[in-house]
Amino acid sequence: MATVLRIDSSALSNGSHSKALADFFQTQWLEKHPADTFQTLDLSQTPPPHLSEATIGAMFTPVEERSQEQTQQLALSTDYIEQLKQADVILISTPMYNFGIPSTLKAYLDHSLRVGETFVYTDKGPKGLLEGKKAIVMAASGGDYSQPPLDSLNFVTPYLKTALGFIGIEDVTLVEAPGMAGDEASINSSIEQAKQALRDCL
Ligand SMILES: Cc1cc2nc3c(=O)[nH]c(=O)nc-3n(C[C@H](O)[C@H](O)[C@H](O)COP(=O)(O)O)c2cc1C
Repeated sequence: MATVLRIDSSALSNGSHSKALADFFQTQWLEKHPADTFQTLDLSQTPPPHLSEATIGAMFTPVEERSQEQTQQLALSTDYIEQLKQADVILISTPMYNFGIPSTLKAYLDHSLRVGETFVYTDKGPKGLLEGKKAIVMAASGGDYSQPPLDSLNFVTPYLKTALGFIGIEDVTLVEAPGMAGDEASINSSIEQAKQALRDCL
C-alpha cells in the first residue's frame, strides 16, 4: 500500500489544465492501485508564507539549541517534511508562470528543502535524505519550450528536477502539457499526449 502526495500549485480552482491532468493521474492510479492513498496539498488554497528571517534562523539552529518559539516557527516546514517522508510517490502539478513555477510552490520548496531534515552537508558536498521515492511533475504552459532556442527559457521542469534531486529524489518523470495558449485542436492534442505520459507512470 503506497501513499501518494499530490501537490497542486495552479492559482485556478476551475479550468486549470495542470490540476485536471493531476485529477486524471489520480483517477487512473487509484483504478490500478485501489488500496493506495492520496494526500493532497493545494497550495492555492493554503499558500505557505515566504521564508522569514526568524524561520531561516530556526532552520539553521541545531535541534538541541532550538527554543520553543523556534520550533513553533518551523511547524509548517516540519509538517511538509513529514508528509514528504511518508510519501512513496510525489505528484507535483504546476503551471508555468513567467517562465518559472508559481511563487506558492517556490515557498513550499523553501520550507521543504531543510538542512538536517531533507538534506545534509557532507565532506563530499550536500546529500539528499529522501531516497527511494518516485516523483512525477505535471507542468502546463501557454507556449512550447521543447525546442531551442525557447528551451532555455523553461525554468519549471529543469528547476523542479534539480530541487527534487537535491533532497534525494532522483527518480523524477517530467510530463509537460505545452501550448495551452494555442487553438483548441493543439490544446487537446497536447493534453492527450500528457495523459499518455501519465499512464506510462502508473
Ligand atoms: C500569471 C501567468 C503567467 C504566465 N506565464 C507564462 C509564461 O511565462 N510562459 C508560458 O508559456 N505560459 C505562461 N502562462 C500560461 C500558463 O502557463 C498556462 O495557462 C497554463 O495552462 C497554466 O496552468 P493551469 O492551466 O494549470 O492554471 C502564464 C499564465 C499566467 C496566469
